[in-house]
Amino acid sequence: MSHIVAIINQKGGTGKTTTTLNLGAALAYQGYRTLIVDLDPQGHTSIGIGIEPDAIAGSMSDILLVPKKRISEVAMPTYILGLDIAPAHIHLARAAEQVYTRVFREAILANALKDADYDFVLIDCPPSLGVLTTNSLYACDFIIIPCQISRYSLDGLADLLTTVETVKNVSMEDLFQEDMFRILLTMFDKRNSITNEYILEQLKPYRQKTFTTIIMKNEALNQAQIAQKAIFDYEPRCPGSLDHSKLCLEFLEIWRKRNSLPAKRPSLRGCL
Ligand SMILES: Nc1ncnc2c1ncn2[C@@H]1O[C@H](COP(=O)(O)OP(=O)(O)OP(=O)(O)O)[C@@H](O)[C@H]1O
Ligand SMILES: [Mg+2]
Repeated sequence: MSHIVAIINQKGGTGKTTTTLNLGAALAYQGYRTLIVDLDPQGHTSIGIGIEPDAIAGSMSDILLVPKKRISEVAMPTYILGLDIAPAHIHLARAAEQVYTRVFREAILANALKDADYDFVLIDCPPSLGVLTTNSLYACDFIIIPCQISRYSLDGLADLLTTVETVKNVSMEDLFQEDMFRILLTMFDKRNSITNEYILEQLKPYRQKTFTTIIMKNEALNQAQIAQKAIFDYEPRCPGSLDHSKLCLEFLEIWRKRNSLPAKRPSLRGCL
């Protein structure tokens, strides 16, 4: 059974794609077989890891539209050994509209992932709480919520957690008590001390549910996406690379504490 992790925030530009791509790469480099599911019609994760739209044969649109289609039928390798991607392109937006009338439409992705043979599956969600995001919530057993540090960064968090409560059929108490989600602070700029103080104060009730690792603002992360590479292959010693390595270790620690850390696959020769 794969561990399925949804990377969600209905706000745009909070670092979902950057987190998915670099955490996915870090897990593969650590020796874990990992699949990224690009569930955003913008297709930024697919492009960011080097998959050009015209090289895509099967995609997440097929998963939504073709009954009983399996993720293994659309997954393709990336340039990183051990890291596959189920890619997306713009057609996914129309596919999402078409499934609105289907019964059990929230379970389509969960069914497609049933026999996925990976240690971790990371799902990059679009910036909305529509049918694509509810599919990822229904399928996942852990949620990462990237939040950019700004005056409005925590707006919408309550709505998001209420949606999780409904889709997962758990109470807010369970959501906090069971280790089901973590907030990840992204694009942190030390110079903005007043904003940072304000946000950290607002985050106090969620402190136990926030990764200790903070992703600093680092231009190399932007450039790596343009170069279509994971940060470790673009600028291995930059702050963005070190932050994502730390995030990966903290993430793995969560699974170790749950007694469900998969064994590393030596054949992948993890090199982080
Ligand atoms: N730590 C960082 N430092 C500097 N730039 C960053 C950082 N994280 C992300 N970015 C840049 O910010 C932009 C938004 O990031 P990203 O695409 O990861 O957000 P997103 O939540 O996936 O956006 P969307 O909601 O549109 O899918 C991108 O151009 C990305 O390169
Ligand atoms: Mg994105």
